[in-house]
Amino acid sequence: MPTAPVDHTLIGQELADDLYSDSGVLLLGKNTTITAAHVHILLKQRVREVNIVRTWSEGTGEHVTTQLFQLEADGETVAAYVQALDQTRLIFDQLKQGKVASLDQFSQVFENVLEKSTKDLGLFRSLYVLEGADSYTYRHSLNVGILCSLIARLLKWDEQQVTFMGTAGFLHDVGKMRIPTEILLKPGKLTDEEFAIMKKHTTYGYEMIKEMEGGSERLALCALLHHERLDGSGYPEQRKGHEIPLDCQVLAVADMFDAICSDRVYKGRTSPFEAAQLLWKEACNGLLSIEIVSVFVRYIALLYVGARARLSSGEEVEVILIHQDEPMRPLVRRSGEFLDLRYERKLTIEKMIG
Ligand SMILES: [Fe+2]
Repeated sequence: MPTAPVDHTLIGQELADDLYSDSGVLLLGKNTTITAAHVHILLKQRVREVNIVRTWSEGTGEHVTTQLFQLEADGETVAAYVQALDQTRLIFDQLKQGKVASLDQFSQVFENVLEKSTKDLGLFRSLYVLEGADSYTYRHSLNVGILCSLIARLLKWDEQQVTFMGTAGFLHDVGKMRIPTEILLKPGKLTDEEFAIMKKHTTYGYEMIKEMEGGSERLALCALLHHERLDGSGYPEQRKGHEIPLDCQVLAVADMFDAICSDRVYKGRTSPFEAAQLLWKEACNGLLSIEIVSVFVRYIALLYVGARARLSSGEEVEVILIHQDEPMRPLVRRSGEFLDLRYERKLTIEKMIG
């Protein structure tokens, strides 16, 4: 009977025996399929290894899962996030095989992590410290859902709208499950032909949500129109200004922010400060809503007070104070001395490190 260490690689494997704590309390029964939450319980109980029935080797996203468990964010929140990630992978894989999901399935996955992540900002901050591009599509869906609800809250929308935006963010890229993997995960730049195929994820998403039990037109439109831009330069319908529903304008901001900040197959991650700067530029150029971007950017900047960052010069600093007029260029502490990035224009915050 194989034994396995208690870590992320255990997720999805089956226990061979009942498992007891030191004080004799039954922790997990024989034949339990281990989830991320179980791993968290076992680690808390200082269980080092367990007997398993079979070896599960389909694991994707292992690198990211390991990092998640090493984060300083609250353990329960991290476990909820990892579990949601596992379930997202399962549901999305089913969709890939052409199965129809119900909206309820998604809501169940998402509600728990949404509630925890909006309370524990440590998780939010940690998400953009993760390295590696594995399980990007699943993480992106979860993160954009979290970000959309957050923005809806910042805009003082009611709770129903906040939940709706979470679901809309979670499902916005669901159409990517119909895009061939070699295009979806291509490390280099897409050719024009490949990009034309990639763009279809918007219409596929619309169709898939409409097919779902409980999938509304409003939700389906979020998938269809999240790449539209206010100046008409987006796709698939080149809508302009108010022709783009407000939901989709929020989604566009959340989607772009997460995409810029995450490590992806073809590019390294960018710091949230730099991402905020880019969003600001897009808003000033008339592509994104300036009202949404300004509320969001201010919030993001405040969230990072006390965080450690690496400057473009390679030095490590701590973010001390965010200026009202230029939130993306904060006051930082560099080994005992203060540095005001408003006056050090050549320096940028390149990476968050904790
Ligand atoms: Fe998309």
